[in-house]
Amino acid sequence: MVPGPTGALNSTVWAGTFAAMADGSTSELSPLRTADGSLTLRNTALDEPYHSVHGAVQESTHVFIKNGLEHLARPHVDVLEVGLGTGLNLLLTWIRCLEGKCTVGYTALEPFPVSPQHLSALDHCADLAWPGLHAPFMERMTAFRQGPWEPFGGLRFQLLQQHVQEFQEEGVADVIYFDAFGPPTQPDMWTSDVFRRMYTALRPGGVLVTYCAKGEVRRTMQAAGFTVERLPGPPGKREMLRGKKEV
Ligand SMILES: C[S@@+](CC[C@H](N)C(=O)[O-])C[C@H]1O[C@@H](n2cnc3c(N)ncnc32)[C@H](O)[C@@H]1O
Repeated sequence: MVPGPTGALNSTVWAGTFAAMADGSTSELSPLRTADGSLTLRNTALDEPYHSVHGAVQESTHVFIKNGLEHLARPHVDVLEVGLGTGLNLLLTWIRCLEGKCTVGYTALEPFPVSPQHLSALDHCADLAWPGLHAPFMERMTAFRQGPWEPFGGLRFQLLQQHVQEFQEEGVADVIYFDAFGPPTQPDMWTSDVFRRMYTALRPGGVLVTYCAKGEVRRTMQAAGFTVERLPGPPGKREMLRGKKEV
């Protein structure tokens, strides 16, 4: 059965869960509450959060949903996400599908999956007031399988444990959620080669959105063929980028 939403945002409930995990057995990921009250993870080895400290849900909604998915305003959208991480962008997209706004084919690249323990403790589904999505979400986030899952709640999902530097598909996506760690932390994600691959992966008329607004990234995207717009950023960030593959 397709779940429905319940209740209000209840992220505070889950803060204590992480305390229970502080037994030294976990990896270099630790929880971080962001300014809008939503939780994310911080990679302590890289000293890099998975989302903006100014608000994880606010950032994901603004950059990827409003300026990516909803900007296209189509009944069906094929999404390619670079860096699935905690799955927050996936869930926000899925909720749009459950609300009847569109159907989505969602392919996510993630070579370093977040453990089920960290995902359960974060519990984005409860945070977003869609607790009924928890079980199907966890299945999709943790079970690697050949090929996509059957559509559920308007979303067809496929997880590829693959590096973006190896991605070779052509014309498979309408929107790319480019959600890599920042250029200072992971410069090999922001190269000409990667953006050429992304340009090739998009269909004509498609867009790539990213929270990053650095001039060097914008110029690299332009050199790969994108027409690039600077848009107002989410709270705490002045700008973001959207690159279009012209028809
Ligand atoms: C900023 S986090 C993504 C946050 C995520 N979208 C979310 O909602 O939680 C960056 C992600 O990129 C992943 N990553 C690292 N190297 C990668 C690569 N070569 N190709 C694709 N993803 C990569 C990391 O493991 C991490 O999960």
